[in-house]
Amino acid sequence: MAKKRVFSGIQPTGQIHLGNYLGAVKNWVDSQDEYENIFCVVNSHAITTTQDPKELKEKTYELAGMLLACGIDVEKSNLFIQSEIDEHPALAWILDCNIPMGEMNRMTQFKDKSSKNAKNVNVGLFNYPALMAADILLYQSDGVPVGEDQKQHLELSRNVAMKFNRDFGECFKIPEPLIPKVGARVMGLDDPSVKMSKSAKGNNHAIFLLDSPEEILKKFKKATTDSHNAIIFDETRAGVYNLLSIYEVFTHKSREMIENEFAHKGYGEFKIAVAEVVIEALRPIQEEYLRLSTEKGYIQKVLRAGADKVRPLAKATYQKAKDLVGLV
Ligand code: AMP
Ligand code: TRP
Repeated sequence: MAKKRVFSGIQPTGQIHLGNYLGAVKNWVDSQDEYENIFCVVNSHAITTTQDPKELKEKTYELAGMLLACGIDVEKSNLFIQSEIDEHPALAWILDCNIPMGEMNRMTQFKDKSSKNAKNVNVGLFNYPALMAADILLYQSDGVPVGEDQKQHLELSRNVAMKFNRDFGECFKIPEPLIPKVGARVMGLDDPSVKMSKSAKGNNHAIFLLDSPEEILKKFKKATTDSHNAIIFDETRAGVYNLLSIYEVFTHKSREMIENEFAHKGYGEFKIAVAEVVIEALRPIQEEYLRLSTEKGYIQKVLRAGADKVRPLAKATYQKAKDLVGLV
């Protein structure tokens, strides 16, 4: 039986952090054998917020290098840059004309991002989910491995695909969200009531994949917890729960084992243990990233090959959609 196809994307903005890794990238890597994989550096999404053009180009390749360092295997996965395939914005336009204003108006990420950056609230930022739907639908994707925050965007992708199929005829596969059980929403270390994000201010908010062991240890030691002392999985105690979840994904231990392990320990010792597993997990990624940073030509070659491989799929779907709506 043919493998199911997954598609996912990540923006080359800011630095990739532990939330991106646990919510998305680690799952892409871990399930590479199970699926046919298409992963995309979504640079066209990145320009919905203000970017320095030169820096954006650099970051696009750096992120691709980081994905390879995390374990994306080019023998098993196609990796490419969104702006290399013109059918993404082209299909987004057709989808735009089939998404009710009311549905787009409900997107919470737009409300969140526009309130955080009132100086540049542009139409592209509003329209972001249509481009994301195009990314997914162009490749007839079965599944989309993402973090919890993308659930609403995925629902919109599914809705527009179903509406289009109904109104014009069968064109798109309806994609399923693939959201991990643990790590789908990693919270800020300084403030466990908000999700870890690339743009949040504060030195102690996020663990970046390129942080040194010393930085990682320092950040975990300062992580906000609470005034209780039991180290148990209790969702109402967001700080401790967040740290325990991070420990859980990296160690693959059961919750019961973890609670036993820390039953007679204090927060100080617990935080160091969490920091240590993160440091050890990131070490090989950092080493590989460093090695790849001297191989820019190789990264470009991989990305070009990825785009060439998937382009025919994108073209075929786009042609079909174009034809169905009556565009010549
Ligand atoms: P972005 O950096 O916005 O392009 O996000 C890339 C991927 O990381 C998406 O699948 C997000 O859902 C996921 N992601 C971002 N922040 C977090 C977080 N704090 N916890 C879990 N997943 C996240
Ligand atoms: N919107 C996603 C994010 O911010 C990134 C993204 C763009 C994406 N296109 C996609 C994710 C397609 C999955 C599939 O995290």
